[in-house]
Amino acid sequence: MLVPLLVLVSIIINPCSMLQCYECEPKIYNFLITPDNIPSTFNCTTIVTPNKFCSLGISTVENGTKSDLRVTALDSRENKDVPYVLTGFTQHNSGNYSTYILYHCLTDNCNNPNLVLKPLLESTETEIKPPSVLSIRQSKSLTSIGCFTYSNFTNSSECKPARRMTTTEEDDCSFCTTFINVDRKNLHTERVCSYCEKTVESIEKWRYIDGRIHLLNDRISHLDYVSYVCNNTNDCNSLENIKNIQNTYKIQFDFEKFLGSSSITNYLISYTNYIVCFTMILQLIYLL
Ligand SMILES: *[C@@H]1O[C@H](CO)[C@@H](O)[C@H](O)[C@H]1NC(C)=O
Ligand SMILES: *[C@@H]1O[C@H](CO)[C@@H](O)[C@H](O)[C@H]1NC(C)=O
Ligand SMILES: *[C@@H]1O[C@H](CO)[C@@H](O)[C@H](O)[C@H]1NC(C)=O
Ligand SMILES: *[C@@H]1O[C@H](CO)[C@@H](O)[C@H](O)[C@H]1NC(C)=O
Ligand SMILES: *[C@@H]1O[C@H](CO)[C@@H](O)[C@H](O)[C@H]1NC(C)=O
Ligand SMILES: *[C@@H]1O[C@H](CO)[C@@H](O)[C@H](O)[C@H]1NC(C)=O
Repeated sequence: MLVPLLVLVSIIINPCSMLQCYECEPKIYNFLITPDNIPSTFNCTTIVTPNKFCSLGISTVENGTKSDLRVTALDSRENKDVPYVLTGFTQHNSGNYSTYILYHCLTDNCNNPNLVLKPLLESTETEIKPPSVLSIRQSKSLTSIGCFTYSNFTNSSECKPARRMTTTEEDDCSFCTTFINVDRKNLHTERVCSYCEKTVESIEKWRYIDGRIHLLNDRISHLDYVSYVCNNTNDCNSLENIKNIQNTYKIQFDFEKFLGSSSITNYLISYTNYIVCFTMILQLIYLL
């Protein structure tokens, strides 16, 4: 008696925690996708998944001349059980730039590129502005530089100096690095890690990243992740210097425009899943 009952319960509970998402063949378009030239067809299927999010990510490649589109279901280990958009840009070590927009949503088929891509692009403004203007004034007389060093991560292994830095190394920096990210559990808390790097090999593939998170329910935007690698002046990785760089460009998201577009509104208020589950649970109670 117990086993068939458990099977029945799991059959009924399962669809309640399942999500239907679009999944499309990842594709790099050989042109830049803008609101005015959205591709007319996408090669997609829909999948039913136990993952938490449907996602749609569009980024630029080859210095903003081409677009890379990825539409799929994502799992997230983070505590962000809310719909949001991430936007920002990266300056790679080559000097080339990429911008990105990543949409995470929680209702069935909410990542349909036919409906979502255009409003997403229309609502996002990402000005890229290189910190390289500053880096050009590289002082050739410097053989080593002093870096701003600081960490307020509670887990010290999440900030590299704990692994790497000793006082003697501090006199011998060839690069300074700072990264700032928001605490995954409390999105209003920023954590900072600033340190000195000794060797070129240890630096990452990028020079600068600035990403913002736009929470769709609260209509609030804030910093998600910033990272800066520099060696042009002493303390070039200071928080003040990063603030100055950030003041030279804009990363903006227009909630009104995005949430006001009819194709999005339909998805945010989709209760069908709950109604189906609720009905099934009622039936179960009735059967018992
Ligand atoms: C669509 O994607 C599938 C694989 O997901 C591939 O086999 C097929 O050739 C693609 N069709 C087109 C028209 O690109
Ligand atoms: C930088 O972008 C240009 C196109 O503007 C591209 O031709 C070149 O391959 C890119 N360089 C790297 C290292 O990706
Ligand atoms: C990459 O794009 C930036 C900004 O648009 C531009 O200043 C730079 O010259 C470009 N680099 C290449 C290699 O095309
Ligand atoms: C600290 O972070 C490291 C690396 O992310 C992880 O492996 C470790 O388990 C963390 N320690 C604690 C106490 O959370
Ligand atoms: C800064 O980095 C460049 C390589 O990108 C390197 O040639 C130069 O020596 C570095 N400057 C210092 C002061 O270490
Ligand atoms: C970490 O330091 C930064 C910069 O001083 C500060 O804005 C932030 O609130 C600090 N975070 C925590 C959790 O103390």
